[in-house]
Amino acid sequence: MPSEKKQCEHYAKFCAALEKNENFQKFKAYAEKILGLGNNSLEKTIAIAVALCLVCAVLVSFAAVALKPLQVNNKELDMKKNILDVAGLLEAGSDIDAAFADKIESKIVDLETGDYVDSINAASYDQRKAAKDPAQSVAIPKDKDIAHIRVKAKYAKVFLVKEAGAIKSIILPINGYGLWSTLYGFLSVDADGQTVQSINFYDQAETPGLGGEVVNPNWRALWKGKKIYAETDQPSLEKGLITEADIGEPALSLIKGVVDSSKPGSQYQVDGLAGATLTSTGVTNLVRYWTSKEGFAPYLRKVRSVKGAKS
Ligand SMILES: Cc1cc2nc3c(=O)[nH]c(=O)nc-3n(C[C@H](O)[C@H](O)[C@H](O)COP(=O)(O)O)c2cc1C
Repeated sequence: MPSEKKQCEHYAKFCAALEKNENFQKFKAYAEKILGLGNNSLEKTIAIAVALCLVCAVLVSFAAVALKPLQVNNKELDMKKNILDVAGLLEAGSDIDAAFADKIESKIVDLETGDYVDSINAASYDQRKAAKDPAQSVAIPKDKDIAHIRVKAKYAKVFLVKEAGAIKSIILPINGYGLWSTLYGFLSVDADGQTVQSINFYDQAETPGLGGEVVNPNWRALWKGKKIYAETDQPSLEKGLITEADIGEPALSLIKGVVDSSKPGSQYQVDGLAGATLTSTGVTNLVRYWTSKEGFAPYLRKVRSVKGAKS
């Protein structure tokens, strides 16, 4: 084959150039000298160890560079899978890329005004990265930082789930501190900007079986249909629990124990995680933060005012 012949020619040229190189000749002579030494020689042991380290370093560097695009691709795919999951659109064995492209639209939202920002490319925008960049983020005043995240990106990336051109639900990125870790997840909200469809956490390091139960599908299912904003003033239920909320304010809370659905206010309550009150409080705080004026309240208000409108 002509290309193979060309490759052989390049290789021959490369070898000839090496043979002519003075430093290569010195290296070759040194290698021959080392290999000629006995196995008990300290110089040979050190030289072989150094050579082995160099070869391994080259191999590791090559693997890191060569596998980078694959890692980036897998990360993106995993994120799409999480978004489809919280949207209730994840089907076993389906093509994630195709399903995402078909059903989900990414949009950038200015958190302060609640308006869409079309000048930023939503496909390439990384909100987590933006939150770490002082030029793209804002510090959260201590008294308002109930999610304990210190900074937030000025612009958030939301995902619209469309059906027949109309918005069926909206997926909001959320994050906040639990007991051991910052939990990152998504809250899926109906087009009414008030009713929860689902929640998921894709990155957290709470204790498996305790706070880590935030990923349990049975617990996640309890969120469906819960209401975010208080339609009437909600009183405090129990000392130490965050349950009170004024009308119009975020009211959704995890409570200790099981929610009694016959009691008033149960539409704002989700069962707390057994033996994990601290993670539960963290989840309440982060959901309240991201649905407050500091988070998506201005945006959700606008969504409510154009309910069902085409984006
Ligand atoms: C090893 C270990 C891991 C724990 N992990 C968690 C956790 O992930 N989330 C949490 O809220 N509490 C965790 N706890 C329990 C807390 O320390 C605390 O006791 C608990 O949150 C109180 O909740 P309760 O009132 O429901 O028992 C852990 C405790 C131990 C000993």
